[in-house]
Amino acid sequence: MDWTGKHLMIFGCGYVGTALAEAALAAGAEVTALTRNPGRAEALRAAGVSRVVQAEILDAGWRRQVPQEADFALNCLSAGGGGITAYRQAYVEGMQAILDWAATGSRRIGTLVYTGSTGVYPQSGGEAVDENASLAGGDGRSSILAEAEGRLHRPQAGIGRWFILRLAGIYGPGRHNLLDQLRAGVETLPGTGTPRMNLAHRDDVVRAILACLAAPAGIGHEVFNVSDGSPAPKREVVRWLCAALGRPVPAFAGSLSAGRRETGPADRLIANRKLLEMTDWSPGFPTYREGYGALLREV
Ligand SMILES: NC(=O)c1ccc[n+]([C@@H]2O[C@H](COP(=O)([O-])OP(=O)(O)OC[C@H]3O[C@@H](n4cnc5c(N)ncnc54)[C@H](OP(=O)(O)O)[C@@H]3O)[C@@H](O)[C@H]2O)c1
Repeated sequence: MDWTGKHLMIFGCGYVGTALAEAALAAGAEVTALTRNPGRAEALRAAGVSRVVQAEILDAGWRRQVPQEADFALNCLSAGGGGITAYRQAYVEGMQAILDWAATGSRRIGTLVYTGSTGVYPQSGGEAVDENASLAGGDGRSSILAEAEGRLHRPQAGIGRWFILRLAGIYGPGRHNLLDQLRAGVETLPGTGTPRMNLAHRDDVVRAILACLAAPAGIGHEVFNVSDGSPAPKREVVRWLCAALGRPVPAFAGSLSAGRRETGPADRLIANRKLLEMTDWSPGFPTYREGYGALLREV
């Protein structure tokens, strides 16, 4: 991939955005990254990102600090902590702020990728879920994610084409909470351990974004699930990790965290067939074994 002379604008440049920025810089692109997080902004500058803007997306002042045009843009804003208000601000209002910016530019954005979430799906009873699954009937967070996607589906003045990537649970270097818990010697994990985990390694997420940005001109305005395609019950993943770590397997018992108590963790099989068939993407970490195996060797 040669991106010499291309400009990539990343909104919400955190864990995924930074990995994409590094790949784009290596390919010769000019990168502008926006984050409100001072530590992340500092890290981005240290990584050689051409232009780092530390700003709140809902404060229009950032528009004066970024170029008026971009060949590529990524919206990977994340609500992080915070309640439902923060969720709406990050996803719906954040998306709208980006679309408003794109509509007023002198030249439109070539390709916009939005990293949404498989949390948009209300299905949670063990179903196979592809991109045609109904989004009706979700809880507050699912509805907000659906509304954010809906903003893209409206006619867009400033964007050549867009892709929505519905990401499964991201893990990778520096983000491996389950592994950390087991290493720390946890004896009990909440829940039953039977719902399937749908995972996507960070590097496969970056590869999916790159596959969309580089997709042939005939492809666009598409929604893709991004997951490794190998959902596995949490109990199985935990057993495998414990064997690799040489430690006893913790019991599953006790109640879930407050946010998950009502609905329980979603049990479903996220399909990645559409992304495999329509782009040149394929997962470098096709199951949790490859992904966690690499992490166990690294950390
Ligand atoms: N993590 C997962 O398992 C998962 C699963 C499915 C989908 N996704 C989606 O994947 C995308 C990337 O996730 P990630 O893990 O890379 O997120 P992340 O590490 O939290 O990065 C998001 C960045 O955006 C910044 N940000 C958030 N709200 C902002 C605002 N209003 N104005 C300016 N900057 C703001 C954050 O700053 P702060 O650090 O100050 O908040 C952070 O630097 C997100 O869209 C997320 O919803 C994630």
